[in-house]
Amino acid sequence: MSQFQKREKFIPYNLPDLTDAESSEVADTLKSRWIAKGPRTVKFEQEFARYVGAKHAVAMNSCTAALHVALLARGIGAGDEVITTPITFASTANTIIHVGAKPVFADIDYRTGCIDPDEIEKKITPKTRAVVPVHYSGQVCDLDRIYDIADRHGLFVSEDAAHALESYYKGKRIGCRPKGTVSYSFYATKNLTTGEGGMLVTDDDEIDAKARIWAGQGMNHNAWNRYAKGGTWRYDVCEPGFKYNMFDIQAALGLVQLSRMKDMQARRRKIAEKYQREFAKIDAVEPPYVPDYATHSWHLYVIRIVPELLTIDRDKFITELNERNVGTSVHFIPVTDMSAYTSRYGFRPGDFPNAEKHFERIISLPLYPTLSDEESDYIIDAVRDIVEKYHN
Ligand SMILES: Cc1ncc(COP(=O)(O)O)c(C=O)c1O
Repeated sequence: MSQFQKREKFIPYNLPDLTDAESSEVADTLKSRWIAKGPRTVKFEQEFARYVGAKHAVAMNSCTAALHVALLARGIGAGDEVITTPITFASTANTIIHVGAKPVFADIDYRTGCIDPDEIEKKITPKTRAVVPVHYSGQVCDLDRIYDIADRHGLFVSEDAAHALESYYKGKRIGCRPKGTVSYSFYATKNLTTGEGGMLVTDDDEIDAKARIWAGQGMNHNAWNRYAKGGTWRYDVCEPGFKYNMFDIQAALGLVQLSRMKDMQARRRKIAEKYQREFAKIDAVEPPYVPDYATHSWHLYVIRIVPELLTIDRDKFITELNERNVGTSVHFIPVTDMSAYTSRYGFRPGDFPNAEKHFERIISLPLYPTLSDEESDYIIDAVRDIVEKYHN
């Protein structure tokens, strides 16, 4: 039996890693008086595009906005079907409905938690126009297979990379020379944060141009600098666009975070590698499986309990962690279980067996650069203690 000692202080599930450098860049932005979209946003777009290796990057106020704009820019709308995964945050699917299309769900590959290419193929109909694969938790979808299916059926691919800055597929960074679009999130919990924020990257000049219009109130040119000397006041609104732009206070955070990415990621990786080693020794939990083709970004660290070896279920496991002062989360309740979706599309238990099995077993544990060695050791001990107490 382990000699588990409960700690006094709660370990939060997530904390953003912010330093004096972020504070001072935000202060400089305020002093510059250019606080809406301006030069820092433009610089962040350029540096981000260079960082991931894409031709264009369009900064937005969320990944949700980027996913929405990707479909709009490709002209997807009423009468179209778009295939995505049930194991994602609702916005991936909501944005498909926002453009007037129908979300069609394909079950996950149980090993990775990402959409199963074989299931995509089964869901294709003459109305299918696009696929939105999600690099779930920072795990990587089997992109060669997905793009092969997309090429054969003439489908657009909008990758949801909300979790995947720092993920690699076959040694190449996600977002590097994308054939379709790749959308990132900079929400407070993400590997790089701007508080709220997102980025759409693409190599396609036409999608880039249209995305800027859709995300910028439909205005026909870069109107952000219309108040500057030489800027023009005249513009047309050529689409009924959205107010989705990023602004310079967010970009100030993004620029500093990008410059700190290497160190922040090294710290994440070190903790994840320890988790992988230690959880592999505990039979009643399953650490994430990472296929040979993938480098995981370790945005989320999702273990699965093995219910057959335990006298408690996942919910009780979470309660036990909470009682031991460990914060957790669950990624995700399947979108296909949400009432907005069951009421519209009539999904029933058993429709997505792998997603359901995955959901019943998952727990996301704390993983962030400022998590100390003592805290991550403690989290491992807490999991071990619960398994010992409730092993059957
Ligand atoms: C898989 C996935 N896609 C999209 C989003 C939406 O990101 P945002 O909050 O930046 O709109 C999230 C949010 O966390 C997510 O987890």
